[in-house]
Amino acid sequence: MGRVEGKVAIVTGAASNPGLGRATAMTLAREGARLMVTDIDEAGAADCAKAIRDAGGEAVSMAQDVTSEDAWTAVIGKTQDSYGRLDVLVNNAGIAVLKRMEDMSLADWNRQIDVNLTSVFLGCKYAMPAMRDAGGGSLINLSSVAGLIGMATCVAYGAAKGGVRIMSKSIAVEGAADNIRCNSVHPGVIWTNMQAQATGRKDPAGVPVGPDRVPLGRVGEPQDIANCILYLASDEANYVTGAEFTIDAGMTAQ
Ligand SMILES: NC(=O)c1ccc[n+]([C@@H]2O[C@H](COP(=O)([O-])OP(=O)(O)OC[C@H]3O[C@@H](n4cnc5c(N)ncnc54)[C@H](O)[C@@H]3O)[C@@H](O)[C@H]2O)c1
Repeated sequence: MGRVEGKVAIVTGAASNPGLGRATAMTLAREGARLMVTDIDEAGAADCAKAIRDAGGEAVSMAQDVTSEDAWTAVIGKTQDSYGRLDVLVNNAGIAVLKRMEDMSLADWNRQIDVNLTSVFLGCKYAMPAMRDAGGGSLINLSSVAGLIGMATCVAYGAAKGGVRIMSKSIAVEGAADNIRCNSVHPGVIWTNMQAQATGRKDPAGVPVGPDRVPLGRVGEPQDIANCILYLASDEANYVTGAEFTIDAGMTAQ
């Protein structure tokens, strides 16, 4: 019996490989969940669903721009049509617009807030009625260490991720009456395509993670985050809501 056996889960931003969404989707499927994987990259989402099926799991995929309200209603609708219920939503899709204040245009700011914050609002808004029908559920929102502490070039990214953190707590309070839990996850430096782009490196070898910045002194792997999300999706976390899970090798502990 898997740790999320029979649950139905949506994971957004599941195309990137290596990426947190794909690792999460593969992990949930391995533990018995039935998956809807989505991404703005339709082929990448389909590839993730195929990898899950090839490994013996159950998955369908859809193209989705998480900033579109219509796309959210379509994804929730197709998930219910495919599986008859919704138990878990992982709001993972995101972008990193990393620029200093002077270089950040209003369009950059708005795009960052739309993709990383408004999308999470929309996802939770449309998932909650479906979860209420299922008797409860788990909303898991990807924030960041940049949603906890200030960092140069993270003005818009950090504002969006800080918004995800506190919005998740408000949703947790509202959702509790319907047995809907909501938590935020705050990764540190994890090797994915986003991290490769942000650091301009092809592999994790030269990423600066010395003990002064990252006490455990190494770059994390997508599975490190997927393991936490698996716990939050499972009934093991039945008494856990409105909490923030920092998985950063000690980065924000100092
Ligand atoms: N990797 C890290 O170190 C790290 C650290 C902190 C937080 N995070 C957060 O974790 C989440 C996943 O990050 P990742 O490192 O796997 O990133 P990634 O860039 O590797 O993957 C992100 C995915 O989101 C998709 N996406 C982008 N815009 C979209 C849109 N409008 N609609 C639908 N899909 C869209 C991309 O196509 C991509 O597949 C993000 O929210 C990110 O901010 C990552």
